Amino acid sequence: MTPGDGSLGASEATGSVEILITREQLATACAELGEELSQIFEGSEPPIMVGVLKGSTLFLADLVRAMSIDVAVDFMAISSYEAGASQPTVVRILKDLENDIGGRDVVIVEDIVDTGLTLTYLRKALSERRPRSLRTVTLLDKSARRIVPVTLEHRAFEIPDVFVVGYGMDFQGRYRNSPDLLAVRDLPRLANEPRLLDRPLFGGRDG
Ligand code: PRP
Repeated sequence: MTPGDGSLGASEATGSVEILITREQLATACAELGEELSQIFEGSEPPIMVGVLKGSTLFLADLVRAMSIDVAVDFMAISSYEAGASQPTVVRILKDLENDIGGRDVVIVEDIVDTGLTLTYLRKALSERRPRSLRTVTLLDKSARRIVPVTLEHRAFEIPDVFVVGYGMDFQGRYRNSPDLLAVRDLPRLANEPRLLDRPLFGGRDG
């Protein structure tokens, strides 16, 4: 799918941010992916949909409701940090699955794949638990920033190398609940004014 352009309307933040993918386009993508996944697992034991906290939560919620089969839902939380200059990025599990995935169909649900480091780690870690099958569905693919190649069986949108917030994704913990996906064009300005988007998104309750 190709992202469409939108407008937040006239505001002081115009120029700093714009709608990259509208809520309607997001809903269409969830409906299509939900149908695709339902067909794959129709007649099988319910797949385990693994949400990667926290960014994937809104996508996961919409995706599973767009599926026409029963599913199990579980979550993982991952942290990644650079151990130092020219050191490899270290990824570790902060919260593990509650389900035993051995012999089960598993779908990793990601909001965005960027460098690919998180997903590479996750796929390896989950593969070692011997699931019946392992797939990844991602809402966004920012492939221009890929460091390691990763397998993406299902993907809704390829996006350019822009910083995005909304629909689960955050800037310093904020703006995850924007129903539209926003592209931040002026990241330094948002960094200086972290509440910049309050007024255009939430009607100015920024007091
Ligand atoms: C995001 C996203 C992926 C990861 C992708 O999570 O949800 O898990 O980054 O990046 P990568 O391909 O470069 O590894 P983030 O670290 O922003 O945490 P959050 O979902 O809790 O906001």
